[in-house]
Amino acid sequence: MITVKNLTKSFGTRTLWRNLNLTVPAGRMLALVGASGSGKTTLLNCIGLLERPSSGHILFDNTDLTRLGPGGRRRFRRDKLGYLFQDYALIDNATVKANLDVARRRGTRPDYARILERVGLAGRENEKVHYLSGGEQQRVALARLMVKQPTLVLADEPTGALDSANSAMVVNVLREMSEQGCAVVIATHNDGVRDACDLVFDVHEQREL
Ligand SMILES: Nc1ncnc2c1ncn2[C@@H]1O[C@H](COP(=O)(O)OP(=O)(O)OP(=O)(O)O)[C@@H](O)[C@H]1O
Ligand SMILES: [Mg+2]
Repeated sequence: MITVKNLTKSFGTRTLWRNLNLTVPAGRMLALVGASGSGKTTLLNCIGLLERPSSGHILFDNTDLTRLGPGGRRRFRRDKLGYLFQDYALIDNATVKANLDVARRRGTRPDYARILERVGLAGRENEKVHYLSGGEQQRVALARLMVKQPTLVLADEPTGALDSANSAMVVNVLREMSEQGCAVVIATHNDGVRDACDLVFDVHEQREL
C-alpha cells in the first residue's frame, strides 16, 4: 500500500500541487488523470524516488520513502518497485531476453516463453530491441515488469504507443498484477484505461473522482 501525505512540489516559483493526499491499497489500480502539465509524471517520479518532493511524505507499507538513505532507496527500487516509463527505458542495443534478464530477481526463474506470449511477442527473445517497433518495445517493458514481479507498479501512459487490442492487453496484465496483491498507479489520458481502474485521482483538482 502506498500513501502520499501532504505532498507539495514546486519548480522555482511554480507550484504543481500543494498538500496532495492519496492512498493506493495493495490489490488496487488507481488512474492518475488531469490536464497535460498538471504533474502526473512528476508525482510518479516522486513516488518512484526519481525526484524529491518539496515537502510531505510518501509511505510504503509504513516505511517513509522520503526519509530513506541511499541504500534504502536503492533496495526499495530494486526489490519493490516496477516502473513503466513513457520512453520504455529499455537497453536498446541488447536483445529482448537480455532486457528481461535485467529485471530477474535472484533465485527466481520466470517463464520467459509464457510471458512473451502473453504480451504478443512469442519467439522474439533473441531480437535486438532497437529493431522493434515502438509498440513492441512498450510490450517488452511490460514483459520486464512481469519478470520482476514488483509490489508497487508505476506506469506512465503505458498504452501511449499501442492500438486498442494491445492497450487492453496491457490493462489486463496490470490488473492481474494488482489481483496478485500489487498496488498499481497509472498516469493516463486514455478513457478506456481510466475506466478499467478501481480508483481515479485528478492531479489538477487534487481529489478522487
Ligand atoms: N525538472 C523540472 N524543472 C522544471 N519544471 C519541470 C521539471 N519537471 C517537470 N516540470 C514542469 O512541471 C509541469 C508538470 O510536468 P509533468 O510532466 O509532471 O506533467 P504531466 O501531467 O505528466 O503532463 P503530460 O500529461 O503532458 O504527460 C510541467 O509544466 C513541466 O514543465
Ligand atoms: Mg506525463
